[in-house]
Amino acid sequence: MASVDSDGSSVSGRKRSGDLLHAGLAVALLLGVWSVGGLEVSTGKVSFVEAMNGSTVLLPCTYSSCIGIKNLYFNWHFNNNGTMEKLCEAVIHVEGVEPKVSVYHERVEFVGSSKSNNISILLYNITFEDAGDYICFAKNPKEKNRNHSAIFTLIVVDQVTEIDNTLTTIIVSVVGGVIGLVIFVMVVKALVVHFLLKDDEKNKECLVSSSGNDNTENGPTGAKADNKGTPKA
Ligand SMILES: *[C@@H]1O[C@H](CO)[C@@H](O)[C@H](O)[C@H]1NC(C)=O
Ligand SMILES: *[C@@H]1O[C@H](CO)[C@@H](O)[C@H](O)[C@H]1NC(C)=O
Ligand SMILES: *[C@@H]1O[C@H](CO)[C@@H](O)[C@H](O)[C@H]1NC(C)=O
Ligand SMILES: *[C@@H]1O[C@H](CO)[C@@H](O)[C@H](O)[C@H]1NC(C)=O
Ligand SMILES: *[C@@H]1O[C@H](CO)[C@@H](O)[C@H](O)[C@H]1NC(C)=O
Repeated sequence: MASVDSDGSSVSGRKRSGDLLHAGLAVALLLGVWSVGGLEVSTGKVSFVEAMNGSTVLLPCTYSSCIGIKNLYFNWHFNNNGTMEKLCEAVIHVEGVEPKVSVYHERVEFVGSSKSNNISILLYNITFEDAGDYICFAKNPKEKNRNHSAIFTLIVVDQVTEIDNTLTTIIVSVVGGVIGLVIFVMVVKALVVHFLLKDDEKNKECLVSSSGNDNTENGPTGAKADNKGTPKA
């Protein structure tokens, strides 16, 4: 009975601590939300993308605001070796109303939607010159025009040809290596057999010409030679 009681109390204790935990979490969440407060812009968990030249990449960016947005201004810049190149800009007047985006780059397309707080852009047909940092910037007049930005890095690689080349190289070298090895082994085998046979003949001659003393001195080789020699004979 005592054990049941203690069990019960421990369970209720756990429940209580769970409640406390939940309350604590709720408070922490509230505090977190409070401290976050205004606008946030983010390029997501991964702040870079590696893409092949010639491909089209999504430069992601989202915003979130607890106090809501009004006339949210945003733009995208490309940090071209220190000089900031503006790619596009727009104002989202009210939440949920799609912005009219001015695009200043021929290969950029705005693909975001204010319905999902998404201000991502696409960059078409990337070249190696497109590699670098892209800055997503936003400003919410509701919070004294505080600036917010997030950086997304584009890495352009020549992957296709690289993989092709390495794969081809690997295949060619493996196949070539195997063929070479086979040939090498065959040649070596032929040579060894050739010389062994010659050796055998010499040994045989030696054995024939020499006395038993010689045989005991290098017995094993002599025996081997003899062994090999016998089937032939
Ligand atoms: C990527 O760049 C390489 C080297 O400049 C070029 O040979 C290749 O055609 C390019 N690929 C694409 C898809 O543009
Ligand atoms: C980038 O800037 C550095 C110096 O700041 C310069 O040496 C380099 O040539 C520049 N590269 C390009 C691609 O303009
Ligand atoms: C991307 O390249 C393709 C093929 O070269 C071309 O048809 C297309 O118009 C290009 N897109 C942009 C936005 O430049
Ligand atoms: C933003 O919109 C683009 C295009 O519709 C989409 O591919 C991307 O996944 C969206 N990003 C987020 C975080 O919803
Ligand atoms: C925000 O950025 C703009 C440039 O886009 C700058 O003129 C302004 O001083 C910045 N404001 C703050 C509060 O940093």
